[in-house]
Amino acid sequence: MSGFSNGFMGIMMIMVVVVVALALSTTANGANFDQDFEVTFGDGRVRRFGRGQLLSLSLDQVSGSGFRSKKEYLFGRIDMQLKLIAGNSAGTVTAYYLSSEGPTHDEIDFEFLGNVSGQPYTLHTNVYTQGKGGREQQFHLWFDPTKNFHTYSVIWNPQLIIFLVDNTPIRVFKNHESIGVPFPKSQPMRIYSSLWNADQWATQGGLVKTDWSKAPFTAYYRNFNANPNHAAASAVFTGGAWQNQELNAWSRRRLRWVQRYFMIYNYCTDFKRFPQGVPLECKR
Ligand SMILES: *[C@@H]1O[C@H](CO)[C@@H](O)[C@H](O)[C@H]1NC(C)=O
Repeated sequence: MSGFSNGFMGIMMIMVVVVVALALSTTANGANFDQDFEVTFGDGRVRRFGRGQLLSLSLDQVSGSGFRSKKEYLFGRIDMQLKLIAGNSAGTVTAYYLSSEGPTHDEIDFEFLGNVSGQPYTLHTNVYTQGKGGREQQFHLWFDPTKNFHTYSVIWNPQLIIFLVDNTPIRVFKNHESIGVPFPKSQPMRIYSSLWNADQWATQGGLVKTDWSKAPFTAYYRNFNANPNHAAASAVFTGGAWQNQELNAWSRRRLRWVQRYFMIYNYCTDFKRFPQGVPLECKR
């Protein structure tokens, strides 16, 4: 074969590879951080990779960083994959939450409290309704959240809020309006994430401080997905309309397993904190 056609074939091959790569990168999940999110603080510490499918937040001694969704959501299923700061992450907090605005805001929180190398992160959860929180539940995870991406999700409908980790429910907050507990159901929420320093309290109650010689600290995000369709939650529920859905048997079993072996704090059983009696929703 002549030099010309060899060269021509080479260029054709490269073009085929480029076209296939472009096709893959545009079809790989609809998520696009450029389109769906905006930086809230620490600009320059928020980085996007590829065509916006991967994002990282970082924290140094000057500032942390954060982003939020451009859109607001009222009910649905929200998924995000996170890979947390590896190594010594003591004193850092990676927050991932849904929140409405104003003094009577509602909020659904995941917060990952860092730790020294080899010690487990704490996953801290909370639910605010009408501006009032104080409903903390904390967990250790059954895997190392710094090695790979894992999926952290919220299913939110008018009847309940479910927190999930890799599709395992870890917490359910039911609508108890019938006994006077407000439930988030009218204020749309944005999705937020931020990485910041809280070494006064985050790690082992503030005993362990951040090792700034390891900065910048970086967490990664990908495969964001917001699905307003309740059917997206079907893997977790028994069939039927969402108004009367129950967790399916597998999900109930997983929830019990997590609560038994991985829950490290539950406000509902903190009788010292509530000497006059635990909050109403805990009694159900
Ligand atoms: C850090 O590790 C200690 C010791 O294993 C553990 O008690 C604690 O819950 C971990 N998490 C935080 C945030 O301190």
